Amino acid sequence: MSRLLAVGSTLLGLVALVGLGWVAWAWYDSRLPGSYNAMELAVPDYGGGPHPQNLAVARSLEQLHGPQAGEPDFATTLVAQKAIVRLSSGAEVRAWTFNGSVPGPELRVREGDLVAVTLVNQDLDEGVSIHWHGVDVPNREDGVSGVTQDALRRGESYTYRFRAEQVGTFWYHTHQNAAKGVRLGLYGALVIVPRQAPSGFDLVAAVHSFPGAVAIGSNDGLERREVAPGTQVRLRLLNTDSSAQKLVLEGTAFRVAAIDGTEITAPTAVEEEAIEVGAGGRYDLVFTMPARPVQLGVAGSHTALRLAPTPAPEAEVSTVRAGPTFDPVGYGTAKMPFDRSSDFDRSFEVDLARKIGFVDGRPGRHWSVNGKLFPETPMYVVRVGDLVRMTVTNRSGAAHPMHLHGHHFLVLSRDGIPVGNSPWWVDTLNVQDGESYEVGFRATNPGVWMFHCHNLPHAADGLTMHVVYDGVTTPYRAGDAAHNHPE
Ligand code: C2O
Ligand code: CU
Repeated sequence: MSRLLAVGSTLLGLVALVGLGWVAWAWYDSRLPGSYNAMELAVPDYGGGPHPQNLAVARSLEQLHGPQAGEPDFATTLVAQKAIVRLSSGAEVRAWTFNGSVPGPELRVREGDLVAVTLVNQDLDEGVSIHWHGVDVPNREDGVSGVTQDALRRGESYTYRFRAEQVGTFWYHTHQNAAKGVRLGLYGALVIVPRQAPSGFDLVAAVHSFPGAVAIGSNDGLERREVAPGTQVRLRLLNTDSSAQKLVLEGTAFRVAAIDGTEITAPTAVEEEAIEVGAGGRYDLVFTMPARPVQLGVAGSHTALRLAPTPAPEAEVSTVRAGPTFDPVGYGTAKMPFDRSSDFDRSFEVDLARKIGFVDGRPGRHWSVNGKLFPETPMYVVRVGDLVRMTVTNRSGAAHPMHLHGHHFLVLSRDGIPVGNSPWWVDTLNVQDGESYEVGFRATNPGVWMFHCHNLPHAADGLTMHVVYDGVTTPYRAGDAAHNHPE
């Protein structure tokens, strides 16, 4: 009997040892090298399309610049610098800024403009870059450190050049240590207006959470603006946070004119519905100013923008409450350029869940894609001209605003139900827990493109992938040794 016990405990000990050994190996194996090429560690997924990486035509994304020649129509300089920023309540915030303010300067350019923005890193030891979120720029102008460029070190500068071809509401932000840098203030709005810009009252409402306060722009209380009745108003909602925000427009019916910078065709009147803007997303709301005040508030806060026909007396904002939420499915009317029954060249699965394991040596229940943890998450390979379908399924217990650089997704279905009424294009698809979306895009912008969750701490925790064009390579490396940390 005691012999049996001894054998039993020896066996148990062995099993424990093997288990421990396995855990130790998993930990060791998960550690990222000092520097690495984003394309080396990921697992290529061809989505049922042709495979061969055609190395004969391999070219570096260094060749995929914006226009290098020509006088810019719009030129400016953004200086990344630390600053103490004051919110409207008087609260002071230690921020990382562009040009000393949060948000950074609003860049308003005209459709077709050649844009040249010089970024200077004045005093950020952590480095900085600028990503033009939602603008489908040439790959080398995309601003992702370790993928399309090296992060700028203190004292360095770089000029981004691209042609502003899409009309709409976009934003810019650092893509070096993005989770920290954006939270601390390295962002601003980018608006591309049509060449014949309509007159009226046009304002960006950039929502951001600071320690202890949520602000629209730099206003963390009530901001008042005088707007004459009859004025055409366009409010460009932008959520720069890492989680969704609900915004409530009261006092008028409105139309949702655009989502993520793309116009909705034939939008109808919306009333008493809150607009949920996922992290990184934009909604343009339009209405004709009535003869009474209109208020845009952030749900759950006392932060609001009040437009009034006459100078209004001081007033408090009671906590903003959200009613039912606006649903873009079925909104507007127009023909879809393609739909779920189209002939796709490649179809990819993006199955978001959680898994116990190590990411870069950190143990935890990490975000997984198709059952894998970063960096073994998929690298989706496409070719120029492909019509691509992605099925994004979220069974992870949290929302994930999935952002693809350089392209816009056409939403095809949600939970198996086709989205047929109007094209609904997004660059950041807010996928709630339990939801499944089919989206499609046409591969027309060659490069190495990030595809990640815009809940930026999630991205930093491994919810990061790439869409790579067959034959395009990057000379840049991420990791500590390269001083590049895109997330
Ligand atoms: Cu707005 Cu890759 O980010
Ligand atoms: Cu996420």
